[in-house]
Amino acid sequence: MEVLIIGAGFVGRCLAARLAGAGHRATLASRHRPEALSPDLAWVGLDAADRDAFAAVLWRMQPDAIVLVHGPSDISLCEYSPDEAMRSHAVIARNACRLAPQAYKLLVSTDNVFDGGQESYTEDARPAPANAYGRAKLAAEQVLAQSCSDFLIARTSLVYGWEEAERGWINFFALALRRLAAGEVLDVPEALWNTPIYVEDAADIYCRCIEQSVNGVLHVAGPQRISRLEWARLLAQEYELDASLIHPVTAEASRYFCRPRNSCLASRRLSALLSQWPNVQCRSPGQIAMQLKPLLEGQLLISKD
Ligand SMILES: NC(=O)c1ccc[n+]([C@@H]2O[C@H](COP(=O)([O-])OP(=O)(O)OC[C@H]3O[C@@H](n4cnc5c(N)ncnc54)[C@H](OP(=O)(O)O)[C@@H]3O)[C@@H](O)[C@H]2O)c1
Repeated sequence: MEVLIIGAGFVGRCLAARLAGAGHRATLASRHRPEALSPDLAWVGLDAADRDAFAAVLWRMQPDAIVLVHGPSDISLCEYSPDEAMRSHAVIARNACRLAPQAYKLLVSTDNVFDGGQESYTEDARPAPANAYGRAKLAAEQVLAQSCSDFLIARTSLVYGWEEAERGWINFFALALRRLAAGEVLDVPEALWNTPIYVEDAADIYCRCIEQSVNGVLHVAGPQRISRLEWARLLAQEYELDASLIHPVTAEASRYFCRPRNSCLASRRLSALLSQWPNVQCRSPGQIAMQLKPLLEGQLLISKD
């Protein structure tokens, strides 16, 4: 398949590598060339909000599938620039639907379309975003639902894995390990719950969805609901780091001030799909911490002396 991925960030690049590994032609598109772009991955410069520029790329590529996994992705920054968030997410979705009506679309959406008042949300729950990011992503979902026929809205929980600080912030898993390994205090918001998913597991799931044109709404999340505090302590224990550096703070006093209390998704549909895909995994934070340990101990230069 020829797949155009709008957004060459943390999630988009991992998906591109997965698609390429499965024998597809994947091209990443973003406004700036990412520093961490692997030379094996195809990339094109594109502001997808620019309709003419988007049309020109589509004309050249004729993609079978388009993945919308672009920014802005920083939930806190979206709160300060809600109009920009809305413009980017809704306009790019509209451009994709209008300019490539035949192509399958996969929108990587978010659990922030829910207000977090419930412990967890299934696909049939009614969205009610409590922040600007959630409202912008919900607007993009609505564009697809109203103007596309062949699409998947893949609402995804916090995606984590190892990453360099390329985008000005890093995901909680990488941040916690870096800080604790460096002997620095880690402020962790109390009472914030997630169902985090490892980036490679999410990419495998998206790859299968694209191959099989899975349609409608699918919640893509890890198997465990975990608080940030529990997660940080789990990492400290697994990597033998100093847990006393973990300082609970109120969510309001942290960069997570506008996060729903529960950013948690559940899905019987995902379980059913995973049972048909024996090689696709969806691992818990504990399993990932353990499995990445040999690799990450080198990165973190953790001394066992
Ligand atoms: N990461 C998560 O935990 C998570 C969870 C659920 C959903 N999602 C969704 O997935 C999306 C991607 O997440 P991520 O973590 O991969 O974000 P990221 O690392 O910040 O990457 C965002 C990418 O979008 C590109 N982009 C922004 N505006 C663009 C435009 N107008 N045209 C083309 N490309 C544009 C950025 O590059 P340029 O600035 O150079 O254009 C960048 O390559 C998020 O926005 C979010 O909606 C992410």
